[in-house]
Amino acid sequence: MTTYYSIEIVAATSEYYFTLDLKSVILVALINYFLTDMSLTQLNTYTSLLQHYAEIKPLRMQSWFENDPMRYDTFSFQLGELLLDYSKNRITEETIKLLCQLAKDAHLEKKINDLFVGHPVNTTEKRAALHTKLRDRKNFPLEVKTCFERIKLFTEKLHHQQWFDNSNENEITDIINVGIGGSHLGPMMTTEALSHLSHPKFRCHFISNIDETHLNAVLKIINPKKSLFIISSKSFSTIETITNAKKIKTWLKDFVPNLEKHFVAVTAVPEKAIAFGIPEDQIFKMWDWVGGRYSIWSSVGLSLALMIGMDNFFAFLDGAHAMDVHFRESPFEKNMPVILALLGIWYINFFNASNHLILPYAEALNTFPLYLQQLDMESNGKSISMEGTNTNYATGPLIFGVQGVNGQHSFYQLLHQGPHLVPADFILLGTQDEMLIASALSQTQALMRGKSKQEAFQEMINKNFTSDEAEFLSSHQTVPGNKPSNTLFLNRLTPYNLGALIALYEHKIYAQGAIWNINSFDQWGVELGKQILNDILKEIQQDETNSNQDASTYGLLMHYKKMRSLV
Ligand code: F6P
Repeated sequence: MTTYYSIEIVAATSEYYFTLDLKSVILVALINYFLTDMSLTQLNTYTSLLQHYAEIKPLRMQSWFENDPMRYDTFSFQLGELLLDYSKNRITEETIKLLCQLAKDAHLEKKINDLFVGHPVNTTEKRAALHTKLRDRKNFPLEVKTCFERIKLFTEKLHHQQWFDNSNENEITDIINVGIGGSHLGPMMTTEALSHLSHPKFRCHFISNIDETHLNAVLKIINPKKSLFIISSKSFSTIETITNAKKIKTWLKDFVPNLEKHFVAVTAVPEKAIAFGIPEDQIFKMWDWVGGRYSIWSSVGLSLALMIGMDNFFAFLDGAHAMDVHFRESPFEKNMPVILALLGIWYINFFNASNHLILPYAEALNTFPLYLQQLDMESNGKSISMEGTNTNYATGPLIFGVQGVNGQHSFYQLLHQGPHLVPADFILLGTQDEMLIASALSQTQALMRGKSKQEAFQEMINKNFTSDEAEFLSSHQTVPGNKPSNTLFLNRLTPYNLGALIALYEHKIYAQGAIWNINSFDQWGVELGKQILNDILKEIQQDETNSNQDASTYGLLMHYKKMRSLV
C-alpha cells in the first residue's frame, strides 16, 4: 500500500495534538488514513505543480537567460568528471523546489533505501534488485567475490593464451557474445564504447537476432578453431539465444575436435547450460536478484572484461558505485539521477510529452540510445501501480535517439518545427573535436532560442527579397524554440565515467518508477509475446492452420505457408 503524504501530515500536525480535543485528533487520524492510499495526482504538491505549470507554460527560457546571468550556475553541477547542465529547461527555482517536494511526498527517500538494502522492490516476482551490490567492491558478498575472481582468472588465461591445455592448439582471437536483450545490449554497447581500450589480440562480435543473416555474417569472418562463444542468458531458455547457440554448435562440430572448449555460459540456471553441453567450470553465475537489463555489472559483462581487462572492468564498476553513493546520499536538489527523473516527470506528466531523446555526440556511444531503450522502456513502460490498479497518469516515455550529428541531418527538423515536445539529453565528451562540440551546442541553443518571425523576415530583407517574399518565407522559417534539453558533459570516456553514466540513467529510471509507484523490475508485457510465440510457431510447423486464430493472423499464416511452398 502506498503511504503518500501520511508521514508529512502527521509531522506537520503533531505539534497541535496537545491542543486538539479527542474528536479533532480522531478526525486528523481519519484524514491521515485516507491520505495513505493517495495516488500521485491526488497529492497537494501535484496540484501545486499543475498551477505552477499554468504559470510557466507561456514563459520563454530565452528571457530567463537574458534576465539572469547566473542561470547556468543555478542549474548545473558536477560530479567527478560528469557535468550536468539543466539550465535549458522550462523551469524556475520554484519548479525544482516543487518537484523535489513531490519526490518527498512520494517517499522517494525510503524507496531509494529499499533498493539498496535489498527489499523485494520487484514485488510481482518477490525479488530484490541488487545490481548495486555488484559494484560495491569493498563489500562484495562472498558469491560475488568468488565469481569475479573466476572471471579474472579466465580473462588472464585468455590474455596469456593459456586457454587450451595443449599448447599446439590454436589460441582464441574471436569472442562471440550470443544473447539478447540485457544479455546482448549491455555487452555490445559497453564494448563498443570502450573499444579504444580493447586488447589488440581479440575481436568481439555480438549475435542476437534469430535471422540467420546475423549469425552467418559473423561465422563467415571468424576462424572456428580460434573462436570462443559466450552463451549469455540469465534464464538459459530464451528462444532466440538457444536457437542460435544450437546452430553454432552444429556448425562448429565440423571444424573442432574439442567442441566444449569453444563455449562458456553466463546464466542463473547452470543446470540448463550443463545440459546444453557446457562444462560446469566454464559457467559463470548470475543471480535472480540481478535483472537482465541491469546485468552488465555481473558476469554478463564477461565479453567486456575480456576486451578491456579486469582492471578496467573494476574501474567501470567503481564509477557506477560512485553514482550509487551519490544517489543514496545527496539531497534531491543536488542529486543528478533525481533531478533528471524529476525533469522527465515535469515534461511527461505536466507538458504531456511522451518521448525522450538520447543524443550522444560520440561515435563510441552509438548504441547507447539502444541500450537505454531497453533499460527505460522495459522498466517503466507500465500502467499498473504497485497495488495492481491502473495508474491514472502517464509513465515511462518512448526513448529514441542516435549519434547526434547523424540525427541533425535526419529527424531534428521535427524537433525544431514539429508539433511534438521532445525533451532531449545531449551527451558530450570533452575529448571531442571542436566541430562536434559546436554542433551539439548550436543545436541546444537553437532548440532553446528558436527564431522569431521578425528575425526571419529581417534576414530575408537583408538578402534582398521583396517584402512579400520575405513575409511568405519568414512564416516557414520561424522556429518556435523554447524546447528543453539537458547537456551531460563527460570529461573523457573512461571505464569509470561510462560506469557512472549508465548508473546515472539506472537510478533516474528507478526514481521515476518509484514516484510513479510502478514496478520497474518486471516485464509481464514481454512475457505475453513469448507465450503467443509458442502457439504461432506450432501452427507454422504443422500443415493445418487453426481457424481459431484472429482473421489477420490466420490470413498472414496462410500467406506465409504459400510463400514458403514456393521457395
Ligand atoms: O524478453 C525480455 C527479457 O526477459 C529481458 O528482460 C532480458 O534481458 C532478455 O529477455 C534476455 O533474457 P535472458 O538473459 O534470460 O536470455
